[in-house]
Amino acid sequence: MKGIILAGGLATRLRPLTLVTNKHLLPIYNKPMIYYPLEAMKKSGIKEVLLITSPHHAGDFTNLLGNGEEFNLKLYYAIQKNPTGGIADGLKLAREFAKNEKILVILGDNIFDFNLKKAIEKFDKRQKGAVVFGIDMDTKSKQYGVIEIGRTGKVSSIEEKPDNPKSRIAQTGIYMYDDRAFDFIDKLRPSGRGQLEITDLNNCYLKEGTLECETIDWWIDAGTSHDELLRANNLVAEKVKKRKL
Ligand code: G1P
Repeated sequence: MKGIILAGGLATRLRPLTLVTNKHLLPIYNKPMIYYPLEAMKKSGIKEVLLITSPHHAGDFTNLLGNGEEFNLKLYYAIQKNPTGGIADGLKLAREFAKNEKILVILGDNIFDFNLKKAIEKFDKRQKGAVVFGIDMDTKSKQYGVIEIGRTGKVSSIEEKPDNPKSRIAQTGIYMYDDRAFDFIDKLRPSGRGQLEITDLNNCYLKEGTLECETIDWWIDAGTSHDELLRANNLVAEKVKKRKL
């Protein structure tokens, strides 16, 4: 399986911190934000990662991360020219890199330390489909996709930032897809906010009946607000001091 990290966008919710730099280069306690998804890739056993970022700061990423030796990964780069195209639009750039293999996708501002190895091994054995990782939390903030699980334990709906969330399970920025993801993305249309949404891609698999949901224990999307960025810093600091990270 190949890994893809999305680290583009304008990060308007974190301004003015992101006026002259890319959000994923901001600190989370003692490391740049982008280190966390990269370490998650490394821990999961993935060997090759494509980092998709914005044109203005691509040089900063290559200066910081080089070819990925520090993470024991082969790191490749792609540039998403349109920073407001959306996550699924950025993902399109990975088609050649993925070369018919399954993919693990992590959004660059997601901070967690769940080991994805077992989930990857399980997914690798499946013929087709996708997996979305969710977390039990307050979903009323309208910042996250919300996953509803039906009686049979299967995903019954995913809504992007709903006004009235149907469950307490937020959609994290961790996904696994088979090699048809790119064909599904080709058929997506921009959402109300003008983006190709990852939730719409997940809904393609949901409709087909091949989407599964796995839950993780702790997770922060550090890109949603200054408060969440601060919370990520404090939580990571606490875990590092207790040697839990
Ligand atoms: C994206 C997804 C959303 C998900 C979130 C997790 O939102 O669209 O469904 O819950 O990532 O990080 P964004 O951060 O792009 O607004």
